[in-house]
Amino acid sequence: MKNRKVRVAIHYNESIFKHSTSWHFAWINYCEANNIDYSIVDCYKYDILETLKNYDCLVWHFSHYSLQDMLFARSILMSAENMGLKVFPDIPTSWHFDDKIAETYLLESIQASTPKAYMFYTLKDFVTWLDNDSKFPIVAKLRCGSGSNNVKLLNSRSDAYNYGKKIFGKGLVSTPSILYKGSSQLKSAKSWATIKSRIKRIPDFIESFSKARRLPRQQGYVYLQEFIPNAGFDLKIVVIGDKLSFIARNIREGEFRASGSGSFYFDRSLVTKDIIDSAFSVSDRLRFQCMGYDYVIDDRDNIGKIIEMSYGFSHTTLLQAGGYWDRSGEWHDEPLNAPEEILKHLIEVE
Ligand SMILES: Nc1ncnc2c1ncn2[C@@H]1O[C@H](COP(=O)(O)OP(=O)(O)O)[C@@H](O)[C@H]1O
Ligand SMILES: [Mg+2]
Repeated sequence: MKNRKVRVAIHYNESIFKHSTSWHFAWINYCEANNIDYSIVDCYKYDILETLKNYDCLVWHFSHYSLQDMLFARSILMSAENMGLKVFPDIPTSWHFDDKIAETYLLESIQASTPKAYMFYTLKDFVTWLDNDSKFPIVAKLRCGSGSNNVKLLNSRSDAYNYGKKIFGKGLVSTPSILYKGSSQLKSAKSWATIKSRIKRIPDFIESFSKARRLPRQQGYVYLQEFIPNAGFDLKIVVIGDKLSFIARNIREGEFRASGSGSFYFDRSLVTKDIIDSAFSVSDRLRFQCMGYDYVIDDRDNIGKIIEMSYGFSHTTLLQAGGYWDRSGEWHDEPLNAPEEILKHLIEVE
């Protein structure tokens, strides 16, 4: 009964970003099914704060592909929070979104399990490191992007030097490659049904690529991570409150990157108690409403290392895990619907 009084604002503006996997669909369904008072609002209207006075909660699945979302979503969410609304994502959850360097500082600040990272902000500092302390191979990443697009392996000093010259010079484009995405999705499709469902997603891909083309070039830094030798997969571990679920993803054939490969599976034995405890602990300490961590398991010590994190991920793929672990490590056969779970939490604390 209490829920019925809560007024939920769900952001959506399809000319800014339109995607079939946007969480606003799940939020609408949840509100409809539970008789929750909600409206779709457009946070890009000039009088949005006036509008938000009529609501208790604001939820916004903002996208790293959209220039406007990356520039303005957090300012509007924070201002709404300042007006007393419960918002998702809130500041602790979102300030570092799609910035792997920010994530690294934050994770290191609590001594989370991460690969050793190296950040350089001048070419001179980078070259000094190359000449004195470098070891190869090493992983170079742009601070932004997804689907492995902006992640590469540097195999030698000259590889690394050329990379540094470019990024400290005219910079690197962060737009994802249609070719890489397309070939990864096709190669990993094992059935005709999967191929058909992926073909249906072509408008989503076109939207993402065309919007991402407006993102700025990446310049003025080098961000490196120690290469973690592993058994050929990474794990997306999602924590929301007392629930944790996962997606296992194979690396692409002949290279080292899993994310965006389209080859996922749900072998629960890969998720050790150590990883469950580690992910809950990071979410608790950093007060995240919802977080998707990418873990790679280090062959050398068998410990899961967080290579990046993001509040957003494919919630439909996560549903296919078919359940979640609780804090005691017990599995429950009930799919974790991330956007629903987030909204439930937001309404509960109202
Ligand atoms: N330090 C690392 N050691 C080994 N493999 C890594 C490392 N960092 C990333 N990878 C691989 O590259 C993929 C993409 O890296 P990630 O940082 O998750 O970027 P994206 O944002 O594109 O998903 C991961 O899925 C993982 O398979
Ligand atoms: Mg990733």
